[in-house]
Amino acid sequence: MDRVPTGVIGFDELIDGGIPRGASVLVSGGAGSAKTIFATTFIYEGAKKYGEPGLFVTVEDNLKNIVWNMENFGWDIKSLEQRDLMKIYRMHIDPRKPIEPQIDKELDIITSMVKDIGAKRLTIDSTTAFSAWITDPGKLRNLLFRFSDYLKDLDCTTMLTAETSGGPHDFSAFGVEEFVVDGIFMLYFIPPHRSIFIRKLRGTKHDQKVHPLFITPKGIEINPHDEIMWSSIKQY
Ligand SMILES: Nc1ncnc2c1ncn2[C@@H]1O[C@H](COP(=O)(O)OP(=O)(O)O)[C@@H](O)[C@H]1O
Ligand SMILES: [Mg+2]
Repeated sequence: MDRVPTGVIGFDELIDGGIPRGASVLVSGGAGSAKTIFATTFIYEGAKKYGEPGLFVTVEDNLKNIVWNMENFGWDIKSLEQRDLMKIYRMHIDPRKPIEPQIDKELDIITSMVKDIGAKRLTIDSTTAFSAWITDPGKLRNLLFRFSDYLKDLDCTTMLTAETSGGPHDFSAFGVEEFVVDGIFMLYFIPPHRSIFIRKLRGTKHDQKVHPLFITPKGIEINPHDEIMWSSIKQY
């Protein structure tokens, strides 16, 4: 199977080398659990190490913050952008106007950007705001399915993030992502410790333990050999 390495140090060996090409995964966790860093690493290393163009769509943060945070790790974003290996796009939704036409328009923009740079990797950080925009659960479910179908057709490996309240079994912000994605990576943050657990990844014999995750001056790192006990997360 063709696999897409995330480029997150210590992680790919836990998932048999990478995410199956074309699959979609959800990175979920509480505030500050390093979801955004994980998702930016996927795009940055994809471009830098593997030469795969990637599109990073931010829903909540402004563009300057995203670039600033990455440059803080010493990543050379500008040269990757100049060579069309990386693109960062801020999705705009005006909550006072009808939501669905705006989402359709944004999907069209994302699609043309993916085609323009020939993106092999796509992230949407985060999908949490969708539930604020669309409060009817049936409509929200429909939108997520439509959204993921659309992304599937792009032939990109897709990483979505979602913010949860951060509990051990709390992997979903809407309760339906599980049916939409092929994989779920859960991040935990029990200050000051961070960790990661692979809840599912279709077509992959993956690791079953919780592993420590560290933020270093250069980005994030997972220790695939150390294990965090579930009991330390469950107290949370
Ligand atoms: N350059 C950095 N050096 C050290 N720590 C950082 C750096 N950038 C971010 N962090 C820390 O990482 C945390 C998690 O970041 P982030 O990925 O934005 O979390 P999330 O998206 O899950 O809310 C931040 O709250 C901050 O404490
Ligand atoms: Mg974030």
